[in-house]
Amino acid sequence: MKITIIGTGYVGLVTGACLAELGNDVFCLDVDQRKVDILNNGGIPIHEPGLEEVVERNRAAGRLQFSTDVAASVAHGDIQFIAVGTPPDEDGSADLQYVLAAARNIGRYMEGFKVVVDKSTVPVGTADRVKAAIADELAQRGKTELSFSVVSNPEFLKEGAAVEDFMRPDRIVIGHDQSPEGLHAQTLMKKLYAPFNRNHERTYWMDVRSAEFTKYAANAMLATRISFMNELANLADKVGADIESVRHGIGSDPRIGHSFLYAGCGYGGSCFPKDVQALERTARDYDQSLLILRAVEQVNDLQKHVLGKKVVARFGEDLAGKHFALWGLAFKPNTDDMREASSRVLIGELVRRGATVAVYDPVAMKEASRVLQLDFADDAALLQRIRFGTSPMDTLQDADALAIVTEWKAFRSPDFERVKATLKNPVIFDGRNLFDPQLMADSGIEYYGIGRSLLA
Ligand code: NAD
Ligand code: UGA
Repeated sequence: MKITIIGTGYVGLVTGACLAELGNDVFCLDVDQRKVDILNNGGIPIHEPGLEEVVERNRAAGRLQFSTDVAASVAHGDIQFIAVGTPPDEDGSADLQYVLAAARNIGRYMEGFKVVVDKSTVPVGTADRVKAAIADELAQRGKTELSFSVVSNPEFLKEGAAVEDFMRPDRIVIGHDQSPEGLHAQTLMKKLYAPFNRNHERTYWMDVRSAEFTKYAANAMLATRISFMNELANLADKVGADIESVRHGIGSDPRIGHSFLYAGCGYGGSCFPKDVQALERTARDYDQSLLILRAVEQVNDLQKHVLGKKVVARFGEDLAGKHFALWGLAFKPNTDDMREASSRVLIGELVRRGATVAVYDPVAMKEASRVLQLDFADDAALLQRIRFGTSPMDTLQDADALAIVTEWKAFRSPDFERVKATLKNPVIFDGRNLFDPQLMADSGIEYYGIGRSLLA
């Protein structure tokens, strides 16, 4: 099938590459010339395991092309996926300017029937706005006889496992309407997704608004689980219980399940923070309140300071003259994405209190350097207090303690004797509960996890 993907970021690039892998003829459009150039020169602009091979294979086979040519992109695909960003507006709502600009472009150039698919995460009612934007452009061109249908097909992939998630989805959610165009769109979407449903049906067909809502409900539920576990962990620290034992104890109940119950130093990334805010904002627009989500957000904001608080409790408010090693910069492992990463909060806290920090991440060093320069644009002197290390062990030199923010595999079993010998003080603040507190105690390491302060 002929497919156009508008927006070649995380979701657009993965969607485009994976649909090409299934034999479709895919045209990826982006407004960012730099991104398109990288892709056309055989590279990829993001770190995502397995993606580069899929992109290269399909580009070489002529099934995947990248361009900034809007007219050509509209002419190409019978199905037009909108996969542009929906960042938070000042009031927390999703900023739809990129989605609506993409929709207008379709209306401006289309010459025949198109299925327009909202793949971006968009508030309930957005499909109607996309429809109106396209219809408006068609009216301006005097081409109201051209028909189209707007479908909602939210994406559930996780960064760091995006290709795997896209190729083996738990579910495919598709919302369409019951008009003749909507039913024709359903037929085309069924054909496109048929390879994913071979062994068992994974598609959930529903109305458009329910599909739009499903995406926010899923992210809000996941974020709620994390904030709930983080609050329990903070309490566990006080009462002398172990949150990891509690996690096993409750997760074994199939009604609760084991996934997404890991306490830590807060959730980050481009999605949970903005989607929780946007859903809360939608509720307010309808004179409703989602009180739980307000708490989820507040708890997460506080949780990003939890390691900083533990450092202050151990070393005091004034950290001048102190030096820390920090392992993990990206908001989660297997990505170089620094959006809303907890590391940025901890680094800010340490350097503002006068400390110096040596940081290391297996893939996010370049992106971290870019982002931290922006974070400290108003006070370049603070930036001087950050050193980018060359390895985990390198950062430990002369450090008063080690803090761990991201659970990269490479950090899971270090040579603890070497860690102890290299650090000035054998102290570890572990924001992702990577180590066994008993093993730490036996190794003579002073260990602070999240919710793991068992009373002796
Ligand atoms: P991104 O910022 O990585 O990519 C968006 C791309 O769209 C950028 O390359 C930008 O240049 C391009 N763009 C903007 N306006 C354009 C236009 N008019 N025409 C063509 N290109 C345009 O964003 P992302 O992380 O891929 O997220 C996209 C959407 O998918 C968001 O709504 C997000 O919430 C949702 N989502 C993201 C993930 C994820 O893991 N990142 C997962 C599920 C859903
Ligand atoms: C999340 C969802 O998992 C995807 O299903 C969704 O498609 C995506 O958002 C989106 O809408 O963009 P992502 O943000 O890539 O995916 O990563 P997650 O693995 O969900 O992790 C998000 C954050 O939660 C990370 O900072 C991670 O460290 C944290 N987390 C996750 C916890 O603190 N505890 C957990 O148990 C799980």
